Amino acid sequence: MNTKRKLEDEINFKEVFTNPLRMFGWIFPIFIFLLVVLGIYYVKNLSEISFNQQPVGLIVDSTYFKKELSTKKGGISPAVDLALVEKPTTDFINKGKDLYKANCASCHGENGLGNGSAGATLNPKPRNFHNKDGWTNGRTIDMMYKTLQEGIIKNGMAAYEYLPPADRFAIISFIRTFAEFPAIKKEELTQLDNQYQLSKGTVVPSQIPIKLAEEILIEENSVNEKKIKNAIKLLDASNENVGANLLKQNSDNLKKVFTSFINFNKNQNVDAFISNVSSNPINFGFKLSITKLKKDELSILYTYLKTILS
Ligand code: HEC
Repeated sequence: MNTKRKLEDEINFKEVFTNPLRMFGWIFPIFIFLLVVLGIYYVKNLSEISFNQQPVGLIVDSTYFKKELSTKKGGISPAVDLALVEKPTTDFINKGKDLYKANCASCHGENGLGNGSAGATLNPKPRNFHNKDGWTNGRTIDMMYKTLQEGIIKNGMAAYEYLPPADRFAIISFIRTFAEFPAIKKEELTQLDNQYQLSKGTVVPSQIPIKLAEEILIEENSVNEKKIKNAIKLLDASNENVGANLLKQNSDNLKKVFTSFINFNKNQNVDAFISNVSSNPINFGFKLSITKLKKDELSILYTYLKTILS
């Protein structure tokens, strides 16, 4: 009876209001309860509460920006004589005239009136170089260079970035003879020079589209895999062959040897193979024991690998 009375005391809520000190006994469970609720809330909303979070709207999928590359042949693009660009000689302009006829006249017309036959259906029409108004990029030398570098693709003006920079300037010099053009400013040339390293001449690497490169890699990989599978079969079948035995005795990672050999042997010969294997056997997939082999044994091994992997 006595204990029951006590229990009732503990859960008599009315009394809590008249005598708040009675709450004291509840503090621990209430505290735990609040902690659990807060904990759950925190975990559920971690991404919003976290101090280090980035505003959601600003995170942009970087693959969105992956720009597909075009196919370009590399080479050395010769230095541009900027003094010549500033004060073009007749020779330079004539060179530009020939290039213009070959590359641009079909759209822009022999006389730069924008009336070439290939441009007849284009909208907007190819620029009439005699006309001063309505240019998209502009008539200053840096803007014309930009037009040739990047094109105005959406309007049907292609990029001519594959023409050597000096040739592009020759064409521009010729176009500038059609009408009165803004005088060439030194700053414009300096700015172009800084941006495109014109006066240095640059090595331009060849380039293929990323997608194509990926396909080639996958293709190469699967060709190599077939080669390796085939080589393992051939190796299993040959017991009497000296090369095969050398290989079996000196490697416990045949796949590595085959892969290394395929990558290595694209443009190497037997001597390079011997020196590479002797100096770095493990990297190649061989055991250290291979360093004890004589030169002629190594060259037998080379020939054997070459045969089964061809
Ligand atoms: C397939 C047709 C075509 C060919 C070929 C072509 N263009 Fe154009 N070009 C255009 C069209 C269309 C425009 C108008 C674009 C615009 O208004 O935005 C244009 C505009 C221009 C402009 C003016 C850009 C501006 O700021 O408005 C320049 C400069 C130019 N072309 C130079 C050349 C040169 C130099 C060549 C040769 C190397 C060439 N184009 C070859 C179609 C062509």
